[in-house]
Amino acid sequence: MGKIILTGDRPTGRLHLGHYVGSLRRRVELQNSGEFEKIFIMIADAQALTDNFDNPDKIRDNIIEVALDYLSAGLDPSKSNIFIQSEVAELTELSFYYMNLVTLSRLERNPTVKTEIQLRNFETSIPVGFLTYPISQTSDITAFKATTVPVGEDQLPMIEQAREIVRKFNSTYGEVLVEPNALLPNNAVCSRLPGTDGKAKMSKSLGNCIYLSDTPEDVKKKVMSMFTDPNHLRVEDPGSLEGNTVFTYLDAFAKDEHFAKYAPDYKNLDEMKEHYQRGGLGDVKVKKLLINVLEEELSPIRARRAEYQKDIPAVYEILKKGTEVARAEAAQTLKEVKAAMRINYFEDTELIESQQKRFNG
Ligand code: TRP
Repeated sequence: MGKIILTGDRPTGRLHLGHYVGSLRRRVELQNSGEFEKIFIMIADAQALTDNFDNPDKIRDNIIEVALDYLSAGLDPSKSNIFIQSEVAELTELSFYYMNLVTLSRLERNPTVKTEIQLRNFETSIPVGFLTYPISQTSDITAFKATTVPVGEDQLPMIEQAREIVRKFNSTYGEVLVEPNALLPNNAVCSRLPGTDGKAKMSKSLGNCIYLSDTPEDVKKKVMSMFTDPNHLRVEDPGSLEGNTVFTYLDAFAKDEHFAKYAPDYKNLDEMKEHYQRGGLGDVKVKKLLINVLEEELSPIRARRAEYQKDIPAVYEILKKGTEVARAEAAQTLKEVKAAMRINYFEDTELIESQQKRFNG
């Protein structure tokens, strides 16, 4: 059997560079590698509602933002099925059956959920839907028999939970589901891109994001105010790379070609880093390089976005078509699941015949 990808994002805002290096850029490469038989990219609106249930308009408005970000980053609807989670009702039905296979304490131990509960101050009143979203995420993955789930590091506990549910299902009812594997970013920097303020992670609530849809002016302004080495006061001073966000971003984005083009004094990033540590290289120069490097990556994305934005109904049509394909796929898996669970009463002619015999001899 061929390899199948499923992954997705919660539509709670525009996608930023953290999403891009952590997952989106890789998805586009995987899509174009031709290695995958099917690719499903899900806009996880139902999951987003588990902690935004009181603000459905936020989710509603961000579906198109995320779709535009996907398409402009290079996801190609002829190769990747982009769909909306809530429109595939089969996913909810699968979740209901998977709920029997997980204990409450197992959910409460999920490290990602634990952190999120703290972040949201849910400690004293956790919505059941929120606590159980790892089960729903298992449905997302297994409905498509995904072998490969490209995600950031923070999602590892979700994949582990999914694998456990798959094993439990298969051992209880028979081999129907496929155990998925996480596919992590290939380097540590990309797993966890810090915000422009040097804080742990890019996050909308911290206001430290560079968005894929930012204008060149926005990007420039944000890079110029980025956190560097607070002790690097004069150009001559030796600078430190530790926690120096500008260099972290260069680690994630810079290629050797960029140096020939924008900083010909250096062959590569290592040479530049050496100079910085030795002293004599100012932050502004490094920031200017980063602006150029980011622009190389972002300007084609921005250009594609501008094209797609001209025809928004066409973008919704892409989502609708993708959702139809996803629904057919999920329906097939649900059918197999129900048969394995012996709850396929009307489809099982043997059942009807045997009951007929039982009552009539
Ligand atoms: N939990 C993921 C996030 O917060 C989004 C998501 C929902 C997902 N369902 C998924 C990711 C299935 C991978 C597979 O980003």
